[in-house]
Amino acid sequence: MLEALQLTKFYGSVPAVQDVSFQIAPGSVLGYLGPNGSGKSTTVKMLIGLLRPTHGEVRFDGQNIQQDLVAYRQHLGYVPEEANLYLHLTGCEYLEMVGTLRGMPEAARSTKADQLLELLALAAYKHLQMSAYSKGMRQRILLIAALMDNPDVLILDEPLSGLDVTSAMVVKNLIQILSGKGKSIFYCSHVLEVVEKVCSQLIVIRKGRMIAHGSTDDVRSQIGQSTLEQAFVQLVEDKDASQIANDIVKVMVAPR
Ligand SMILES: Nc1ncnc2c1ncn2[C@@H]1O[C@H](COP(=O)(O)OP(=O)(O)OP(=O)(O)O)[C@@H](O)[C@H]1O
Ligand SMILES: [Mg+2]
Repeated sequence: MLEALQLTKFYGSVPAVQDVSFQIAPGSVLGYLGPNGSGKSTTVKMLIGLLRPTHGEVRFDGQNIQQDLVAYRQHLGYVPEEANLYLHLTGCEYLEMVGTLRGMPEAARSTKADQLLELLALAAYKHLQMSAYSKGMRQRILLIAALMDNPDVLILDEPLSGLDVTSAMVVKNLIQILSGKGKSIFYCSHVLEVVEKVCSQLIVIRKGRMIAHGSTDDVRSQIGQSTLEQAFVQLVEDKDASQIANDIVKVMVAPR
């Protein structure tokens, strides 16, 4: 069981996350939704032990993760929001490094890496430096790195970012199958249609604070909207998207 208890992070005097609490039981998928800058990635970095909370704590199986981060990370698979680390390595070298850091036996490491590279259509590029990869290819390598050691907990920060339709579909199916196998999954995104389909519970955050928490139906009924998208837009912004688009066009077409 992964738990966040009153997680709070200040960058200087700026609150990025305030008083966020939740539990992710084995077999459940928590969707963490919020607009740009609302504190999603900051929460993720605290969940993986990369950032220390200003207040509050993250617990795994009842223990504060900071007490033994190395042991905790053995259970963790993490897909970061940006894939710009280690671009001088080839895909193969990167996976080898991740497998070694995780203490995977050499044979399993290379067999699994090769099989996953094949399944995610990267086998032909595995000896190419990742700096030459497209955005979607980098994202797929990050996914392989997160999955190859069969972690109990998956923390995904915008995992579909840059993926084509087929790869995105594979990842959506994967999330469902893995939750069926008892994995705990934290899925952070601003793409509602996916979250609605794959998550068992949802949190909506705005300016670092939780403004809704429950099942998809709970969140929808909390604000009386028929689609989650309407509910989300109403919750996080008091803005009319079509009005903003019209205003942008007005600025564009104004005489020079
Ligand atoms: N290293 C940092 N130093 C100072 N402020 C930061 C830092 N990282 C994030 N912030 C601020 O914290 C807030 C939350 O940022 P965060 O990256 O968590 O948002 P997000 O929800 O992941 O956004 P996005 O959807 O764009 O990825 C923002 O106001 C951001 O400017
Ligand atoms: Mg982010």
